[in-house]
Amino acid sequence: MKVATSPIDIKKIREQFPVLHQQVNGHPLVYFDSAATSQKPKVVIDALVNYYSGYNANIHRGIHTLAEKATRAYEQTRETAREFINAASAEEIIFTRGVTEGINLVANSYAKAFLKTGDELIISGLEHHSNIVPWQLACETTGAVLKVIPVQDSGELDIAAFKKLLTTKTKLVAVNHASNSLGVINPVEEIINLAHDTGSLVLIDGAQAGAHLQIDVQALDCDFYCLSSHKMYGPTGAGILYGKKFLLEKMPPYHGGGEMIKEVTFEKTTYNDLPYKFEAGTPNIADVVAYKYAMDFITGLGRENMAAHEHELLVYATEKISALKGVKIYGTTENKVSVVSFTIDGIHPFDIGQMLDARGVAVRTGHHCTQPLMNRFGIEGTVRASFAVYNTKEEIDSLAEGLKRIINFMSK
Ligand code: ALA
Repeated sequence: MKVATSPIDIKKIREQFPVLHQQVNGHPLVYFDSAATSQKPKVVIDALVNYYSGYNANIHRGIHTLAEKATRAYEQTRETAREFINAASAEEIIFTRGVTEGINLVANSYAKAFLKTGDELIISGLEHHSNIVPWQLACETTGAVLKVIPVQDSGELDIAAFKKLLTTKTKLVAVNHASNSLGVINPVEEIINLAHDTGSLVLIDGAQAGAHLQIDVQALDCDFYCLSSHKMYGPTGAGILYGKKFLLEKMPPYHGGGEMIKEVTFEKTTYNDLPYKFEAGTPNIADVVAYKYAMDFITGLGRENMAAHEHELLVYATEKISALKGVKIYGTTENKVSVVSFTIDGIHPFDIGQMLDARGVAVRTGHHCTQPLMNRFGIEGTVRASFAVYNTKEEIDSLAEGLKRIINFMSK
């Protein structure tokens, strides 16, 4: 793999993350679980505190000063998100709790309204359960059929097989931009073009892309794109669903309640304009407000700089870990976000996770909410080390040293 050198000032970056400066089980914390949730910079934590201590109020309802300030801050995040993914209009940005809710929104609203018996949906073998189960539920309700793009030994999707699955019956293709379990980056441009050629819509699950990859929904021409704030240095419980305006306009509401209506009588309700039609009830104001600061943090550092630093870590970790006895890495393609997923002969991933935790190293172990993918490789789970902009090569040395000791200890 080619390694680009990044101009990231790691010391300055780490200073911005209070949680990183602690001992865990008597060792300095090494946090390698950012694919599950990233840590939060002080600017995001301050935004939450400032909102609650300075201008907590419900939005879009009050005309008092605090309500107007909170509304402005909430809508500012929508504009920042629009810029972040280069959507054409802020009306195309729907706030959700995260990717899971975004996919469920489309599966419930679009699929249930427009799919019929015999229609087909295509997902991939790399998907998280949140991009599988909502479509299974939609298929049960509509009579549509779910098809799956196979995964190759390298962890890459089999695009030749995808071409064969695509027919005029295909109504929607839903794939992730990058795999949470293996880190593999999918050729989403190609997938979108192929799907559009047969008249299908495409939804991209961007959970693992938000913090790592450049996202331009207009250049991609995807129909839907979902992001989670908490995987991109923002708070939990917030995210966005991008949808093309003409699609969102014809889709029925997902949840009913306050704010999503124009007029309610007992006989008939008319719905609010976009994006509010899909934002029933008091939303997660504080976390949405703070989400803006997370996106600004990423934009401020520059996604290319972050990607270069993370790629350096990925290459270094891949070399170090694969040199250890009995290790098998899953996801061997070079085109990956910063995730190393592996097993070690004869040692259960949970045991590895626990023994690493005893040395202050936090990794995720298990099936990573991708059981079908684990079945594809004939394993129960892996150990997954996932890196973010605040990680260092010294931390990877601690992980490798920990793994070496575990292997030696278990082979006695
Ligand atoms: N989807 C998250 C992960 O991959 C929780 O760990």
